[in-house]
Amino acid sequence: MSKVKKAFFCKSCGFESPKWVGKCPSCNEWNTFVEEVVHKPSAASSVRIFAKEGETNSKAKLINEISATEVKRLVLKDGEFNRVMGGGIVPGSITLFGGEPGIGKSTLLLQLAVQNKLKVLYVSGEESEQQIKLRAERITGANDMCFVFTETSQTKIFNQINELQPELLIVDSIQTIYSDLIESSPGSISQIKECTAEFLRYAKETNVPVILIGHITKDGSLAGPKVLEHMVDAVLQFEGDRNHTYRLLRTVKNRFGSTNELGIYEMQSDGLREVTNPSEVLISTREEEVSGVAIAATMEGLRPMLIEVQALVSTAAYGTPQRSSTGFDLRRLSMLLAVLEKRCGFRLAAKDVFLNIAGGVKVDDPAIDLAVVCAVLSSNVDMPLEPSICFAAEVGLSGEIRPISRVEQRINEAQKMGYKKIVVSKHNKGLKETYQGIHVVKVSKIEQVFKALFAQ
Ligand code: TYD
Ligand code: MG
Repeated sequence: MSKVKKAFFCKSCGFESPKWVGKCPSCNEWNTFVEEVVHKPSAASSVRIFAKEGETNSKAKLINEISATEVKRLVLKDGEFNRVMGGGIVPGSITLFGGEPGIGKSTLLLQLAVQNKLKVLYVSGEESEQQIKLRAERITGANDMCFVFTETSQTKIFNQINELQPELLIVDSIQTIYSDLIESSPGSISQIKECTAEFLRYAKETNVPVILIGHITKDGSLAGPKVLEHMVDAVLQFEGDRNHTYRLLRTVKNRFGSTNELGIYEMQSDGLREVTNPSEVLISTREEEVSGVAIAATMEGLRPMLIEVQALVSTAAYGTPQRSSTGFDLRRLSMLLAVLEKRCGFRLAAKDVFLNIAGGVKVDDPAIDLAVVCAVLSSNVDMPLEPSICFAAEVGLSGEIRPISRVEQRINEAQKMGYKKIVVSKHNKGLKETYQGIHVVKVSKIEQVFKALFAQ
């Protein structure tokens, strides 16, 4: 009888330790160790699930001898998906597709499976064949080469793969798949790592692209160790508010394309529809122009994101004016108000100021300063801003508008979201006047912004 081996794994980076430790020696995270049963096969019985016959010894090559022929991507019917992937799926690539439960991951990937004329194997460890069929009936698709396999054992999945030889493999979800070589339960760190490694080997050796659906934890990161994100070629994230119909597809990582791309979908009764004109999203969320609302083009990590800043300025009802802020640093708000008071002569000291970042997001990007200032000014004079304008700049203590990083990425995002004008700092070098229809307004002082916005 083989001996049961237990080990502790870091939930964050996958580091293995024979005993429990409070702080991970590898990634320095606290309280991330969980115990798991590991059964390491002995060297003699070690078998690879996916083994290619007649493997040749690989040799190092001179970089000049490697032919640089452009890889032929698999272009799918879904334009948004192609764009996000950098122009289509690269053969032999492995993609991790994450998102909250119920956001539409299974729907989107089943849609890819049934709407493209490809031999697709859709492996589901989550739903029954009937459930998948019901869903497929809602989505109109006419692929007669789409195979569905409801199984969670990796050995059985690879047997099917060898039999069918698909052109695209979709696995829903990696957390439900288990490998017999490891004794811990499906979804555990060692299982996820092992199964992903096997799919990775399969993808690289056969050139068949693989898409793995991954669950997301409460704090929004992909469940499973971070190493998973390092192993795969691309990490996509599907997000949106479940109560709204719009869904955003973003790339967190892409070895074969840029991570700036954003795909927009609308969830309808017959599946996800591509939103080719993003301003639709905008018009539906804004019904009438109100004062005190300004849009900021911020970055969340490496991802550009447009957010709505709302301000309310009113005469203080009590002696001491109130300052309140949700999603934005209160001290920074006080600083910006002091700048407006001192440098621009706005009498805000006797006013209550309430600030709110819509949607419950928290931002600490300095580039939202200008939007905060404009929202406050707009509420103060009770005049709405143009609906198609947005802002991306930091405000300094002397009222100067300072440059920010990745400004082109923000401009592109704003353009994609349907904005016509973006206000940035004059000191952001090398910017063009317009980018595909969005006009770049360059300013250096708050007074200039105020004049440009409210002077009539
Ligand atoms: P699903 O793909 O099951 O989400 P995930 O795999 O990310 O957990 O999507 C589920 C939701 O999508 C469900 O609440 C119903 C809705 N839906 C539609 O609105 N229209 C459709 O055509 C389909 C198939 C699903
Ligand atoms: Mg699902």
